[in-house]
Amino acid sequence: MSPQNSVTARPALKVGVLGAGTVGTQVIRLLLEQSEEFTARSGARLAITGVAVRNVAAPRDESVPRELLTDDATAVATSNDLVIELIGGIEPARTLILAAFKAGASVITGNKALIAAHGPELYAAAAAADVDFYYEAAVAGAIPVVYALRESMAGDRVTSVLGIVNGTTNYILDEMSTKGLSFDEALATAQELGYAEADPTADVDGLDAAAKCAIIASLAFHTRVGLDDVTVEGIRSITAEDIREAHASGCEIKVLAIAQRREDDHARGISVRVHPALVPAHHPLASVHGAFNAVLIEAESAGRLMFYGQGAGGAPTASAVLSDVVAAAAHRVNGGQAPRESSYADLPVLGPESAITRYQVQLRVDDQPGSLATVAGVFAENGVSIDSVRQSAYVGAAEATVTIVTHPASVFHLDTAVDALRGEDRVLDVLSIQKVEGE
Ligand code: HSE
Repeated sequence: MSPQNSVTARPALKVGVLGAGTVGTQVIRLLLEQSEEFTARSGARLAITGVAVRNVAAPRDESVPRELLTDDATAVATSNDLVIELIGGIEPARTLILAAFKAGASVITGNKALIAAHGPELYAAAAAADVDFYYEAAVAGAIPVVYALRESMAGDRVTSVLGIVNGTTNYILDEMSTKGLSFDEALATAQELGYAEADPTADVDGLDAAAKCAIIASLAFHTRVGLDDVTVEGIRSITAEDIREAHASGCEIKVLAIAQRREDDHARGISVRVHPALVPAHHPLASVHGAFNAVLIEAESAGRLMFYGQGAGGAPTASAVLSDVVAAAAHRVNGGQAPRESSYADLPVLGPESAITRYQVQLRVDDQPGSLATVAGVFAENGVSIDSVRQSAYVGAAEATVTIVTHPASVFHLDTAVDALRGEDRVLDVLSIQKVEGE
């Protein structure tokens, strides 16, 4: 290294870490082990001055030097140049981050719930203090989705984002798909492996994915989108039979976070939702296995961009945190700032009734002449166009199962058609209704 590049000649920046859980431990380990590289890349020596934890005496990984531990989180938040918040949840994380901004620190966080609930307030506080606010780790772990949407796509118009952004539910559905397990069996395996929490609500009921979807939609469409704007449906009701039927239709079932811009005769705005959907086996998201995440961005000029990788875990998430640390540190040394909130487009967030999607409807019908014509007629009368029909007869019974996949339709039209089908004598039962996403 030449004298002007010598790391000891670089300015020092004080770094405070709030929380030393799975991700915090990896962030601290990597910052200490690779300090020379971080100095060379950011232009500043990064000195961890304190790590705030709830219980200083608790046993923990030896990567975290005990002399850095403190239970005074406010002191850590207010006495550093860079503050890394990895506590999670709303409070005290929100108060600590606001205090850090006020004290002149740039903040790096992975706290999706906090951003989905209080993003505008945090952006405003960062702008008022003229410091950076970074949160790459909040969405899809190691995958640089926030950077891609906030910076790489700044010269384009995003039309849709379709993502598998919750590794736990993808793991559960993949176990059901590849091993024929029930939801409860797959959840138990996910819990044994540490993917799912003892209380799996945030993952299996779609709330974790919804917070990420709100962040994705805000960035993609330059519009404030909060958690309450996201229509959410979890996976507790998915059965092994649903998965077998999906396979019979050439599909996998995936939980998708969907953010779409609509500008047509019926609606103008954005649709933001999280729900399980049938995805055709040939679609790139269908082959995302295990706990992996993937995000498909479509933009007017760029076309399709696909991102794939580890969406959780200590080291993968620490990778995202540390990229933000390098960027924020480099701004301290060289000038420049992180992108501010961009919400100028202020598009209306459409209600669930405006979502347009394809559906698969499975019916049990009388296997008599004209039954299929009756079913087709009901769809036509209610403005729902049929894409494909599959029929299988029950051996020895005068009944058949008819599986219909529609062209994109609104919930309203689909519900009206299904209600009408229930009133037909030849339709014995509506067995299932599934959304179908991905061309
Ligand atoms: N629990 C999340 C997941 C990781 O399963 O993807 C943190 O957001």
